[in-house]
Amino acid sequence: MQKSILIIGACGQIGTELTLTLRNRYGNENVIAGDIREGNETLMDSGPFEILDATDYDALEEVVAYYEINEVYLMAAMLSATAEKFPMRAWNLNMKTLFNVLNLARDKKIDTVFWPSSIAVFGPNTPETLTPQSTVMEPTTVYGISKQSGERWCNYYHNKFGVDVRSIRYPGLISWKTMPGGGTTDYAVEIYHKALSDKKYTCFLSADTELPMMFMDDAIRATLELMEADPKNITVRSSYNLSAMSFTPAQVAASIKGHIPEFEISYQPDFRQAIADTWPSSIDDTQARRDWGWKPRFDLEETTKEMLGNIKSGRP
Ligand SMILES: NC(=O)c1ccc[n+]([C@@H]2O[C@H](COP(=O)([O-])OP(=O)(O)OC[C@H]3O[C@@H](n4cnc5c(N)ncnc54)[C@H](O)[C@@H]3O)[C@@H](O)[C@H]2O)c1
Repeated sequence: MQKSILIIGACGQIGTELTLTLRNRYGNENVIAGDIREGNETLMDSGPFEILDATDYDALEEVVAYYEINEVYLMAAMLSATAEKFPMRAWNLNMKTLFNVLNLARDKKIDTVFWPSSIAVFGPNTPETLTPQSTVMEPTTVYGISKQSGERWCNYYHNKFGVDVRSIRYPGLISWKTMPGGGTTDYAVEIYHKALSDKKYTCFLSADTELPMMFMDDAIRATLELMEADPKNITVRSSYNLSAMSFTPAQVAASIKGHIPEFEISYQPDFRQAIADTWPSSIDDTQARRDWGWKPRFDLEETTKEMLGNIKSGRP
């Protein structure tokens, strides 16, 4: 059957690249970008776009009916750092949009849902290294609580109503096409831009804060591979652990210095340090590898090369 796809939050850090990749694969006209704001020129020029507030069920249903959408990627959310400043707004946005999309699937108005979770579902009592798929979670941030609740609801809608919902616990994502939108791992994008423009960067996390990270190309490929996997191979309907690499700010700085020797980093940890301190330093993704063949391609060195090269050339 012909896919007709809606991406909600299409103008964000992940949504932009996801939309462009899906348009390449399924045809521009079959991939509808939706967001409450307009995105960059490449995204806006590449296919259909709708201004859409996904907390409004009727507006969402109208877009789904108009374009005969059968697959939805829900990328709209308030991220970890911003959510600590606006707890109720974050909870309302993150949960309302998820229920709206899950209810569309329960009522058979769409067939398949992708909804991203995060390593923020884990907390201070979680095993810190090689965090298992199933383990103690107990998140302490508003964002983490919303993601853990979301996972339980996805699992519930799958078991109770047969909803085909698929999910990944993304680590911190590094990309050069769109700036990140208020997360705790944003430093790992900013640092490359500042290295090129100012030759120095002040990091809001401490030198030795090790976190799980992934280059955007890997994250997008994982998302498509999961969505194209045979449903009978998908054994996790909450959200899959997914891993590529782990590093500290000091290690990114050293990697950048290999290309820009005069680059200097200093450290001024702020409130985001307390968030990062509750998250794992590495993730065990055996289940994703076993169920749908996940394998990362980008390590820190490759990521640094891609980031510096693409930002420098000013590619759109
Ligand atoms: N970027 C990361 O490192 C990362 C890591 C783990 C999980 N995630 C998850 O992936 C998803 C996408 O993250 P991102 O980094 O692209 O976020 P982002 O903040 O860059 O983008 C979110 C987009 O959603 C849009 N939006 C906000 N409210 C909306 C509404 N009511 N209706 C429609 N659109 C709305 C925003 O305008 C924005 O373009 C989120 O669920 C996030 O929690 C991201």
